[in-house]
Amino acid sequence: MKMISPLPSTAHTYRFKPSYKSPGKKKRRLAAALLSALIILAPYSAAGAENAFRNEFIINYKANRFPQQAELVKKNKEAMPGEIKALTAEALSPDRDFEDRMYLLDIANAMGSMYKYWHGDEKPLLEVETIQKMEIARERQRAAEAEKWARYEKLLGNFIMKEHLKQMEAEGLNPVIFPHWLHRVWFQCKVCHQDIFVMKRGGNDISKTHILEGKQCGVCHADNGIAFGTKGNCERCHNAGKEGAGRLQDMANLDHKKIKEAASRLGAEWNYENLPAGRIPIDRWGFIDWLKLKELKVFNPVISLTKGFKDEVRDNKILFESGNDLASNVLFDHKVHSTWIKCSTCHPAVFKDSLGGNHIKMTDMSAGKFCGHCHGKVSFTFADCLRCHKVPKGSSVSGALIHEFKIAQ
Ligand code: HEC
Ligand code: HEC
Ligand code: HEC
Ligand code: HEC
Ligand code: HEC
Ligand code: HEC
Repeated sequence: MKMISPLPSTAHTYRFKPSYKSPGKKKRRLAAALLSALIILAPYSAAGAENAFRNEFIINYKANRFPQQAELVKKNKEAMPGEIKALTAEALSPDRDFEDRMYLLDIANAMGSMYKYWHGDEKPLLEVETIQKMEIARERQRAAEAEKWARYEKLLGNFIMKEHLKQMEAEGLNPVIFPHWLHRVWFQCKVCHQDIFVMKRGGNDISKTHILEGKQCGVCHADNGIAFGTKGNCERCHNAGKEGAGRLQDMANLDHKKIKEAASRLGAEWNYENLPAGRIPIDRWGFIDWLKLKELKVFNPVISLTKGFKDEVRDNKILFESGNDLASNVLFDHKVHSTWIKCSTCHPAVFKDSLGGNHIKMTDMSAGKFCGHCHGKVSFTFADCLRCHKVPKGSSVSGALIHEFKIAQ
């Protein structure tokens, strides 16, 4: 049996840290601020009388005011079981996140411990402890669930889609793995971005209704000869956790024949015969080297689904002079980028279209701005410094426009 101390520890009683994005200190500070606001406001509110006990208990608890706490608990025998129940109910309110919930349960636990010690009844404490254990188990499961799907994003650019997880579960379906890379084999980015999808995760409200109306994935996944339709094929898209799902990112075990078949039908190419030793070129970070594939003439994607589409390519290079002594200059190839990507995807939302018009910092990029709009998400990662910082200071690139480094931009 656990020893019950009359003095509840101020440390949280739970140890489990969720591995997903935790609300962290800031949120906790916010919760604490809200709580103190409550404490200040409480005496003036209607519920003030009942909450006076709780407020004082929390103040004592946080400040380690042990003698005062003992006095308070001795005086409030009648109110305590109800207060512990109320705290527990508040903790379990569905709009509360894990951290806040555990914080309230922690206080309820402290009250329960004190109640047991001073008034000899352990029932309220046992109830709180049971709920705490259940909540921790649930959180573990949630984290494991997130982890379970996360492995399908191992290949940079593949996305798990599970915004409407509840609705999918209701129809007995698993989340969707969208194999971005596979679609890149057949289609230039401009086919999808931005006409079919804005280039932002979660930015398109993708749903069954829209797809069945022939929008979003349904532009192609309909019975129109482009790709398999929805009827009877639910699990070809709702494929996470299903057999064969791992193959969508296993570069060593691709069904090249199937990829080629689809390519031929669409007017694209997949010449896997050109792959050296039959292997897809992969960089050190596990990312497909698309430019190498292009160089080897392995693939040649479709530019548009509309006849008479007027492609627009800007054929120049921009040399970014680096202001940092250690970093080489950066070469940006407008042609490579505008062959794949529409001008309007980058201009003006991501870059002003004037030479030297953008002040680019690595910290902004890591936050998803500028080059980080694609690199590190769907194109090669930032860890690959030298792929961008490839021109040594002092050497020139013939014909390149110069984005000069200016200190105060
Ligand atoms: C077959 C259609 C299709 C093609 C082709 C395609 N994408 Fe996407 N892209 C998507 C979808 C779908 C999403 C996710 C949208 C959502 O979640 O609402 C997406 C999202 C993105 C995002 C947002 C990532 C994030 O974390 O917010 C980027 C960047 C992106 N694509 C870049 C590209 C690039 C670069 C190419 C070409 C090399 C490309 N895409 C080709 C369909 C496509
Ligand atoms: C521009 C057309 C286009 C769009 C838009 C598109 N796809 Fe595809 N997709 C294809 C083609 C073509 C194939 C090859 C399969 C075939 O031949 O039927 C394919 C194959 C797939 C596969 C591989 C399945 C398998 O069994 O091999 C998945 C999964 C998939 N698409 C999911 C999606 C999802 C999810 C979306 C929307 C977020 C989407 N696609 C949007 C054209 C498209
Ligand atoms: C071409 C790929 C594809 C096919 C085929 C497909 N879905 Fe989906 N479905 C999606 C995507 C993508 C989403 C959005 C996932 C998300 O919530 O992020 C989705 C969402 C859903 C949702 C939840 C959102 C909503 O609108 O209620 C349900 C339910 C659903 N699909 C049912 C089905 C059924 C039933 C079938 C077979 C008849 C089917 N889907 C076939 C790609 C597909
Ligand atoms: C996708 C292309 C790309 C990659 C990859 C990249 N950079 Fe940069 N970096 C740039 C651009 C563009 C600039 C702005 C021009 C300049 O100041 O050099 C920049 C600027 C910088 C600067 C000076 C400005 C600042 O933010 O401090 C440093 C230092 C730097 N990069 C270091 C790195 C290192 C280290 C890596 C690898 C971990 C890296 N970069 C990877 C594109 C890239
Ligand atoms: C991947 C993103 C991207 C795409 C796609 C893109 N640009 Fe740019 N563009 C840039 C960047 C980066 C700069 C340099 C900005 C700077 O110096 O601050 C630039 C600069 C420019 C400039 C000024 C320098 C010059 O080249 O004269 C013009 C004009 C321009 N873009 C037009 C276009 C047009 C037209 C297209 C489509 C054919 C296009 N861009 C496609 C990223 C892009
Ligand atoms: C809208 C998406 C997008 C943006 C924004 C973007 N890139 Fe890229 N970039 C791509 C794609 C797609 C490729 C093709 C290869 C790949 O996917 O990795 C590519 C390839 C490259 C390459 C290799 C090609 C070559 O010239 O050798 C470099 C270097 C590069 N990008 C640098 C940059 C820099 C620097 C910036 C910012 C000034 C930038 N990119 C912004 C999508 C983007």
